[in-house]
Amino acid sequence: MSPRKIIIDTDPGQDDAVAILLALASPKDLDVLGIVAVAGNVPLDLTEKNARIVCELAGKTDVRVFAGCDRPLGRPLVTAEHVHGKSGLDGPNLPDPTMPLQPQHGVDFIIDTLRNEPANTVTLCVLGPLTNIATAFQKAPDIVARVQQVVLMGGAYFEVGNITPTAEFNIYVDPQAADIVFKSGIDIVVMPLDVTHKALVTQARNDAFRALGTPAGIAVAQMTDFFERFDKEKYGSTGAPLHDPCVTAYLIAPDLFKGRHINVEIEVKSELTMGMTVADWWGVTDRPANATFIGDLDADGFFALLVERIGLL
Ligand code: RIB
Ligand code: CA
Repeated sequence: MSPRKIIIDTDPGQDDAVAILLALASPKDLDVLGIVAVAGNVPLDLTEKNARIVCELAGKTDVRVFAGCDRPLGRPLVTAEHVHGKSGLDGPNLPDPTMPLQPQHGVDFIIDTLRNEPANTVTLCVLGPLTNIATAFQKAPDIVARVQQVVLMGGAYFEVGNITPTAEFNIYVDPQAADIVFKSGIDIVVMPLDVTHKALVTQARNDAFRALGTPAGIAVAQMTDFFERFDKEKYGSTGAPLHDPCVTAYLIAPDLFKGRHINVEIEVKSELTMGMTVADWWGVTDRPANATFIGDLDADGFFALLVERIGLL
């Protein structure tokens, strides 16, 4: 079977970095047509730089990296240096990138790719705020029907919020963009905090990355060593939650995950609950299902896949 064509939209971010490494280590499964950076965890000038750093860490300097939108559709940018550090990739000491940033705007790359590739053959893997995706849909409505699937990390239901009491970061940063994507009619798979908080890098799992002894394996261990502080302090968890790698792992091994096809709507009016994903998990409304909302994973299988693939880089 030929590898699945994907565009990765991302705001690296240590967990984004692991998701990108997993994708680049899996060429038989995933054909990464391009990586588009978005403002999120840190400003765009850092997320695009970090995306190139990660490609060089993977030894894949032929991957095209683009810069997308530098702010949300209709709100000031909120960043997360308190979680990811000032650089957005604190932990390992990685060299500045030498591979070039593509001159084309990332939104135009998304539009052109969806127009040029056969319809329903390109999946959008969204690891940050949905600003680039929504902007592309607004600029070129004809591409919406051509998207094979959107698999995104964002939202929460039972886990509620990580940036406000009710909202997860990616959705909170750009709720208007999320609203556009969730109302697009596209086949959407959502990796909310409900599942990503079960993908924790325990000490044993961190040791397994470090034991790879490769630059990528050691860097992943250093990233998660840094990244775990926030969640350990806030939730008392046993390690860093690998949010974004759930997206690329799903595309490689969907059977690792379990969820329900339900209605998910985005709060875009009330400041109190802005960016909340209102997930009808119990089917108490007659609102039509519009997303597969993942609630559980085989964590051991997930980490075995990560160690195996990152060990190939
Ligand atoms: O809430 C977690 C999400 O926000 C992850 O994608 C993380 O990288 C940040 O973007
Ligand atoms: Ca991210």
